[in-house]
Amino acid sequence: MTTHELKEKYIKFFKDKGHIVIPSSSLVPENDPTVLFTTAGMHPLIPFLLGEKHSSGERLVNFQKCIRTDDIDEVGDDVHLTFFEMLGNWSLGDYWKKESISWSFEFLTKELKIPVKKLAVSCFAGDSDAPRDNETAGIWKSLGIDEKRIYFLGKKDNWWGPVGETGPCGPDSEIFVWTGKGDPPDLVTADNKEGWVEVWNNVFMQYEKTRDGKYIQLKQRNVDTGMGVERTTAVLSKKSNVFDIKELKVLADKIRKLSKKKDEKSLRIVVDHARAATFILGDQKCIAPSNSDQGYVLRRLIRRAIRYGKLLHIEKPFLVDLSKIIVKECSTDYPELVQNQGFIEKYLRLEEEKYDKALVDGQVVALKKIEKGMGSVDKKIIVGELEVLESAKIAFDLYQSNGYPLEMFLDDLNEKVGISKELSDKICEDVSKLVTSHQTTSRAGAEKRFKGGLADQSELVVKYHTATHLLVMALREVLGDHVKQIGSNITSERLRFDFPHSDKLSEEELGKVVNLVNDVIKQNLSVSCSIMSKDDAIKSGAHYLPGEQYPDQVKVYYVGDDLNLAVSKEFCGGPHAKNTGELKEIEVYKQEKIGEGKMRVYARFRS
Ligand code: SER
Repeated sequence: MTTHELKEKYIKFFKDKGHIVIPSSSLVPENDPTVLFTTAGMHPLIPFLLGEKHSSGERLVNFQKCIRTDDIDEVGDDVHLTFFEMLGNWSLGDYWKKESISWSFEFLTKELKIPVKKLAVSCFAGDSDAPRDNETAGIWKSLGIDEKRIYFLGKKDNWWGPVGETGPCGPDSEIFVWTGKGDPPDLVTADNKEGWVEVWNNVFMQYEKTRDGKYIQLKQRNVDTGMGVERTTAVLSKKSNVFDIKELKVLADKIRKLSKKKDEKSLRIVVDHARAATFILGDQKCIAPSNSDQGYVLRRLIRRAIRYGKLLHIEKPFLVDLSKIIVKECSTDYPELVQNQGFIEKYLRLEEEKYDKALVDGQVVALKKIEKGMGSVDKKIIVGELEVLESAKIAFDLYQSNGYPLEMFLDDLNEKVGISKELSDKICEDVSKLVTSHQTTSRAGAEKRFKGGLADQSELVVKYHTATHLLVMALREVLGDHVKQIGSNITSERLRFDFPHSDKLSEEELGKVVNLVNDVIKQNLSVSCSIMSKDDAIKSGAHYLPGEQYPDQVKVYYVGDDLNLAVSKEFCGGPHAKNTGELKEIEVYKQEKIGEGKMRVYARFRS
């Protein structure tokens, strides 16, 4: 079975159960400042899980491209990937546990023909926030899952969400397939998962976690399920790891041909990172490498891929060639990859060149530092205990500032002074301690990025969303129709908007933009929403995001009484203020150039 076949089967199965297919969204969540990437199929659906009406109805199905970098250090084992695809089906206040579980069971046993005895499930054990999920366990049992293979676990294992600090969440039921040898053992427990691969997660989202850490009932009971495409394909194709499925194996084989050294773990890392980098560059939002946000993660993924490529003794630049294979393999499901192929290749090529230069520069610095150390009293930097730590610090700093790999530093050190294996291991150990403590600090920082996000439907965030629509309207009026939204990020303190434009706005242009927005705010115009076919919405002149895939039915939010005469109309999921009079006047307090031909403006309500 290929990933494509699995996706087709799943989508058809749920279409037959009344679900509407929605396209995979961008890897960069819209309007959400809390996280850098779309981490699950439910992520773009958060406003609708909270009760906003979805243009395609209450039963949805899709496959979604996702990035999760939390487990980047696990990549190289049998199942972890930073880029992966997730299949999902959703009930937005429609069906509940019985249908969801029965359909999962039917799909696995009838469509995928997995024997019932090879299935095990886990359910939520209950705590002070929510009761034990006996209902779910009872449904599994009634379908024929042996009681011995139904086990209960706490929040850590059997609760999903929220994505940020607040938002929809709930108890889940994870489904495992036995891939071990022979018949599965009778007893399945939390610490006895060996041989079992988790393929699907059914989340019963009936709670919302609030800012004060409480779990309150949502307006509606939702179902959110997620099936890992690569993992499930591996299980169905009887492969012991995801890197052996057809779509990833063609990349692995290409790398095997290019490398002069065998190293399975490095090879898997290159496969994964090359795929992740190609998908980020080829996303509808066209993210370029940079030193902040998504662009920074992208740069790190590319550099890690090159670094592990060097460990495999790949001599020439290789990422562009890998990306060509990825684009060819995946463009049926992700047409944006072909549309952005030039962009993907341009930046992979540039980054490989830059990184090669950084390595040459890094080596010059490394050698200087080593020589300086050798010159010091008793060669203190190199020999002895204190000196190991010094060397580790130098290695770590070189990595941080030049991306200079530890392995290369150790080679340099060895060449200059001849270090023992023991000393080399000790330096590695100390560097990894420094890396861990650095990661802990930066992760703590990353978690505190911003509050809010898609899950924040506080009045201010909703108003900023409406203000963003007015800003698009005004920028287009003053600067021209080339202005389109290429990024939007809203907190309760400000809005941030990215658009294609060559330079900062002059004072005069800025004044005109702000006046136009504030005029509409003062006019107290109504904000309404109409659901219509994508074609009609385009004909109506509504603004939409270039390259984004939309479902057949879309919501258009418009400002003014009449859609045809509206001052602003946009494809948008909502939610929005009901009337522009609810907004305060805005001021643009910062503008910056964020790349070639890309501008960013920040605006807030005047106090
Ligand atoms: N949101 C859940 C997950 O990511 C189910 O899709 O596992």
